[in-house]
Amino acid sequence: MNQTETALQAQRRADAPLHGPEAFAAMRRAGQLTAQALDLLAEHVRPGVTTEFLDNLVFDFAQSRGAYPAPLLYRGYPKAICTSINHVVCHGIPNDKPLREGDVVNIDVTLILDGWHGDSSRMFFVGEVPRRAQRLCDITYEALLRGIGAVRPGGSTNEIGAAIQSFAESERCSVVRDFCGHGLGRVFHDAPTILHYVEPSYNVPLKPGMLFTVEPMINLGRPHVKVLSDGWTAVTRDRSLSAQFEHTVGVTETGVEIFTLSPKGYDKPPYDIVR
Ligand code: MF3
Ligand code: CO
Ligand code: CO
Repeated sequence: MNQTETALQAQRRADAPLHGPEAFAAMRRAGQLTAQALDLLAEHVRPGVTTEFLDNLVFDFAQSRGAYPAPLLYRGYPKAICTSINHVVCHGIPNDKPLREGDVVNIDVTLILDGWHGDSSRMFFVGEVPRRAQRLCDITYEALLRGIGAVRPGGSTNEIGAAIQSFAESERCSVVRDFCGHGLGRVFHDAPTILHYVEPSYNVPLKPGMLFTVEPMINLGRPHVKVLSDGWTAVTRDRSLSAQFEHTVGVTETGVEIFTLSPKGYDKPPYDIVR
């Protein structure tokens, strides 16, 4: 359709798109490839390895499978993946600095396969990590699962936010407000917006066929972030540790399907590497 768009059409366009069985099948394939890339990364994260090396690994993996890393050149982003270390909240840019024993790093992979986006991130331990870092990763993973557990037809986005926020805050952690989950499919960032906290002024009813990410960022300290001068790297203002896990999910007739589950069971660190 072209020419004049009525207000009603504009409203519908702004709504979260509903997808059918073929889209779900394509999202399963894109999601599984993304999860395989994260499984591969688990075998390479160790002290001395650079995030640039990990970036190349995912680029080559994608290319060999006929996929493309969505972040690369997305709004000028320079790399294939995001690597966010310690107090970096998200969108850390891979570089030639070696990872150090005790670091915790979020690696966020988005692969486009046959036009569909699989978007997932996990935390990784670099050697032995401090107890408080392990605790934060455990809490953040549990927050992700609780958020996904709230996804159901007839539910709403604020039920996801409530599940995440109430759990994280009961553990004396804070939920980042400045970044959110998002609808996706053929588009990387689409409606609906998935907030990881309760916002009464924004609440979208969940319907079968919706596709989106749940990707809570949880801090040990205060929730506030700032973006560094590279225009991407977001860090905690108080330099407290931050963690994040992300899955791509779909709302089904009866509940939720997770597209990005690890084939190897590498759900949460430390990963018991199968070589
Ligand atoms: N994968 C991130 C997300 O979860 C987005 C990264 S976009 C980039 O939405 F440009 F920063 F890479
Ligand atoms: Co995402
Ligand atoms: Co992501």
